[in-house]
Parts: sequence; C-alpha cells; structure tokens
Amino acid sequence: MVAGGVIIRVRRGGAADDPEERHQTYAIAPRPRMTVLDALTAIQSELDPSLGFRYSCRVGMCGTCALRVNGRPRWACRTLIEGLGESVTLEPLVNFPVLRDLAVDMTPFLDKMSRARAWAEPTEAAASAPVELSPDSRQRVRIDPHIECITCGICYSACGMAAHDPDFLGPAALNRAYTLVCDSRDAAGGERLAEVADEHGIWRCHSQFNCTEACPKGISPATAIQALKRRAAASGAKSFVASIIGGLAPGG
Ligand code: SF4
Ligand code: FES
Repeated sequence: MVAGGVIIRVRRGGAADDPEERHQTYAIAPRPRMTVLDALTAIQSELDPSLGFRYSCRVGMCGTCALRVNGRPRWACRTLIEGLGESVTLEPLVNFPVLRDLAVDMTPFLDKMSRARAWAEPTEAAASAPVELSPDSRQRVRIDPHIECITCGICYSACGMAAHDPDFLGPAALNRAYTLVCDSRDAAGGERLAEVADEHGIWRCHSQFNCTEACPKGISPATAIQALKRRAAASGAKSFVASIIGGLAPGG
C-alpha cells in the first residue's frame, strides 16, 4: 500500500444470485476531501468494475447511497474518508435484503411507507385552493423538524425493533405519518393515526433513539413516534394497547 493509503474492505455477495458473503479489500490513495462514494467510484472505474453499489445525486439529496461505514449506517456521498482510519469497512444496510454487494432492495421499506399512508390526502378546502400554514403556527412548528426526510433508510437500518419485528413500520414511515397527522390540510389524519397505532406500529417502538442518532438530516423519528403515541392515547384511536385493555375489561 502507498504511504497515506487506505484499505477499503467491501462486503460482497449476500444476494439471491450470489449468496456467498465475503469481504474483498482494495488499496486506494485518498485525495483531500475524498468521500466514501468517491472511493467506491474510483475502485469501480480503476480496480474492479464488478463492484455493486448505488448512488444518484452525490450531494445528499436523493438518499440512495446509504450503507454501513465501519458498522454505522451513513450516507456515502457525505462521509469523508479522512478520519475513518487506515482500514475502512463498507457493508450494506442491515434490515434490508441485498440486491448486489452494497446495494439493497428498498421495496419492503417503501411498502411500509404505503402502509402508513405516507401521502397527503387533502381536505376539500385544501384541494380546491392553496391553504397556507403560517411559519409561526403551532402546526408548522411541529411539522418542520420532520419534513426533510430523503427516504435513505439509515434510520430503519439503525433500528433494533425493525430487526426484531420485520412487520414493524419503522421510524421513517412513522415520522412521515406524524407530519401528516399534524397537518390540518390533510383529511386522513384520524384514520392514519389509527392505522399506525397497531401492534406493528407506534407501540412497538421502545424509544431507544438509535434512529434519531443515525439520521443524516437531523430528523428525530423517535420524537415523532412519541408524539404519535400521545395523540393515539388522547384520541382513543384503536390501538394495540387499547385492544389489550378492551380484552381485559369485564365482558370485553
Ligand atoms: S428519517 Fe432520516 S434516516 Fe430516516 S429515512 Fe428519513 S432522512 Fe433517512
Ligand atoms: S448520492 Fe444522493 S444522497 Fe448520497
């Protein structure tokens, strides 16, 4: 290895058509401010064109480049090689099926967004004319810290409950549901709240805040989930807890 060089250990395999998991090492000479994504593209173009990974925007906008760097889920395009050590291990996100090497299948994650109805369903008023939320309104203040999600899946990979319960909706879908439940322009708030308050939804979360610690956009999905729990309890939404209480009630 050249002086000042870095060894990149990449997890290969683990996919349906290449099941044997192994680590392959590549020696690189990092440039100043080289990112993990720069290193991967250099390896692919100069050393090994068969290496599989995914990216699109390169600037922290699209969320497609997420992987594990030395065991931590991070975004490749905004993580500098400098400071990671002389040996850097790159692996695919956990809690996702591997498509090829570092590229994972986002389908189950996006299906959970659908289960949480992660799209706006406007009220009649909001559908017929633009309705503003004033920047200093309570709604806007609640929603704003949670809206910059780029669906990278990093929080989902960091989540211990997602590993334990494959049906758990997960931090990103619940964070998105929270932004909509808080928004008076959305007509599906109550129904959405009831749907995310089941045994694979908000009550599954143990508030460990791993998602919050990992999110590269500074979002706190765990805080959103806690707020959803308070709303579900206050609204009497049909929930896992409510169904247990109902089951214990006399004649219930
Ligand atoms: S909440 Fe953060 S970590 Fe989770 S998907 Fe959105 S941007 Fe990524
Ligand atoms: S390539 Fe788009 S966020 Fe990294």
